[in-house]
Amino acid sequence: MDAYDSLQKFEVPEVIHGLGALSIVGRCARRLGGERILLVTDPGIIEAGWVDKTIGHLKEEDLKYVVYDNVVTNPRDFQVETGAQVYERNRCDVIVAVGGGSAIDTAKGIAILVSNHGRIYDYEGCNLVTQPVPPLVCVPTTAGTGADVTQMAVITDSKRAMKMLIIGRAIMPELALIDPLLLQTESPELIAATGMDTLTHAIEAYVSSLSWTLTDPHAIHAIELASEHLVHAVRYKDIPSLVGMSVACLEAGIAFSNAILGAVHALSHPLGGFYDIHHGLANAVLLPIVMNRNMEYSLEKYARIAKAMGADTEGLTIEAAARCALDKVRKIIEELELPSRLSTLGMNPKDIARLAELAKDDICMTTNPYCYSTEEIESLYREAW
Ligand SMILES: [Fe+2]
Repeated sequence: MDAYDSLQKFEVPEVIHGLGALSIVGRCARRLGGERILLVTDPGIIEAGWVDKTIGHLKEEDLKYVVYDNVVTNPRDFQVETGAQVYERNRCDVIVAVGGGSAIDTAKGIAILVSNHGRIYDYEGCNLVTQPVPPLVCVPTTAGTGADVTQMAVITDSKRAMKMLIIGRAIMPELALIDPLLLQTESPELIAATGMDTLTHAIEAYVSSLSWTLTDPHAIHAIELASEHLVHAVRYKDIPSLVGMSVACLEAGIAFSNAILGAVHALSHPLGGFYDIHHGLANAVLLPIVMNRNMEYSLEKYARIAKAMGADTEGLTIEAAARCALDKVRKIIEELELPSRLSTLGMNPKDIARLAELAKDDICMTTNPYCYSTEEIESLYREAW
């Protein structure tokens, strides 16, 4: 065993959370040394009115800005490269990302290129970003990815049609500015899909082989909050449930940024690269299938998850208590009326062998309670198809 194998660490950015937090975005960008801001967002967020509001707050601080909105779900390498050119051409100094995980990941990619140069592929993997990146302020508009508090970015390699995972302290945002009011313009479908991503983060981080004292309380609390608020947030979009989901997303993000994830994400990453399937929807299909197979390798943890989800596990055997977690997850998916098959999301069974190879090599598989073989992964895909 390597002497460093027993070391554990815990990374978080500065976090400011609360109703109306967006109003201090200009002040925060100024405090971080900003004069000229690159505002990374997507057309939907512009339409929702949040970019105008953000610009108003930047102007209050006399900041100059340029908007970069060439952002799509599953952001592409070339969009990151174009964004970096816009940053350089306008001599920007601080990046503000307003949007979901795609805008935030695009912003992280831009931050890498403007300070480390080269191509974005050069940084695929762990700790390959060595030069400090410009200050990055993240204002999430979804309660899903937790990208505002993670040291990870997922960018699609458009030539290979696969997702690249970039991990390292260097790309941790300087500040996560979380305003639950921004969740009000999310569609119910998006709240459901992104909320399932949050629940998956929390569950996978909790059962991860890298989970520890500092990640577990955040993972468990995120599971409690998502179980309590997700269905309600989708149906009513009221402030208490949106606040609950914003904290669930935050804590799940903190947990998985440090404990990494598991087989659900290992299997869903290739699906995003191949078919452009929404990440949260792919996770919603895969979560119960992976939990069912994972259960025997982490019974006690799944039993604890069941409790966090509100199951009465008193007097049950450990196996029965663990299965309550699966029942609870299935019930949430049913109540949210989410798809339960990958076939309905466009997966082609002919691709299963290649998908399984990619999933096997995904870093998230290494922290799953059990490391599945390529054949076992193929059977998981077939079960989900
Ligand atoms: Fe995720």
